[in-house]
Amino acid sequence: MKSLVICNEKGGVGKSMIATQFAYFCAIRRKLRVLVFDLDHQGNTSKSLLKKDFFLAANVNAGQILRGETLTMNEDQKNLVIVGDESLLNLQDMVTNPEDDINQMIYNNLYNAFESFRSYFDLVIIDTNPNPDIRMKAAMYLSNYAISPIQCNSESIDGIELLIKLIDDARQMNSEFEYLGLLVNLLENKAYQKQNFSTLVEKYNELILFDKEKGVVPSIGNNIAFQAAQDCGIPVWSFRQSTAQRAWAMLQPVFSLIAEKMSLPDLSKTKTNEGQK
Ligand SMILES: Nc1ncnc2c1ncn2[C@@H]1O[C@H](COP(=O)(O)OP(=O)(O)O)[C@@H](O)[C@H]1O
Ligand SMILES: [Mg+2]
Repeated sequence: MKSLVICNEKGGVGKSMIATQFAYFCAIRRKLRVLVFDLDHQGNTSKSLLKKDFFLAANVNAGQILRGETLTMNEDQKNLVIVGDESLLNLQDMVTNPEDDINQMIYNNLYNAFESFRSYFDLVIIDTNPNPDIRMKAAMYLSNYAISPIQCNSESIDGIELLIKLIDDARQMNSEFEYLGLLVNLLENKAYQKQNFSTLVEKYNELILFDKEKGVVPSIGNNIAFQAAQDCGIPVWSFRQSTAQRAWAMLQPVFSLIAEKMSLPDLSKTKTNEGQK
């Protein structure tokens, strides 16, 4: 089982969009057994994924898992979402003894949960909340990979230093942790955005997601089809309109690159893939 955390303490940069669409990509296109763990109490990813029936809601939500409850699996179930719910905001209520270390309890419960997922899923995608609390940190300490969507504006770029601290901590805590990089999203065809993009690539060269084979830094442009796909709860490739096809043409190479960096298999090549193209 591989695990990928989508993290950036900035909101509105596309974490949920990437989490949702990458989940479809891996589950539908690559036929992997995917679990999406939504650690954001706003639950945008959960709501979007549960609009249609590609994914089902798990019997426990994220707040319950962090409190130590367990997920019940049934053998023929494939793709699940652990719903991000408002009880994630009151995690301190799990402390009954003032001596208890709540952060350690959350980490332990998440560790046990990951262990219990291992035989049922090929991939766990963890979407995180936009503030670097124990939810995001514990997910980074327990996962194999992380990626950070980022916007090319000065506030987002200023926030990178905090992200670097989180990544360094994760590397120290987790010897299997590999940071895939910053992924520019919502890029607009405007001079100041292009300038910020160049600054970002120059200054944070080591941190940015890079396609070695093609020699390019991939980016995702601002395209309304992403929002429409999120609102309808469907993969962006399933819209026929040319805008959506352009959106998918930007996203697909990025997803293939992430899958390749994570060494995720493509089981569609070995299983029948009826009803899909
Ligand atoms: N490349 C994009 N083009 C257009 N809209 C996008 C793009 N990426 C994300 N969005 C939209 O921007 C909003 C914020 O994205 P979201 O994934 O919710 O960010 P986060 O999870 O980081 O807060 C959502 O409405 C989403 O559908
Ligand atoms: Mg989100």
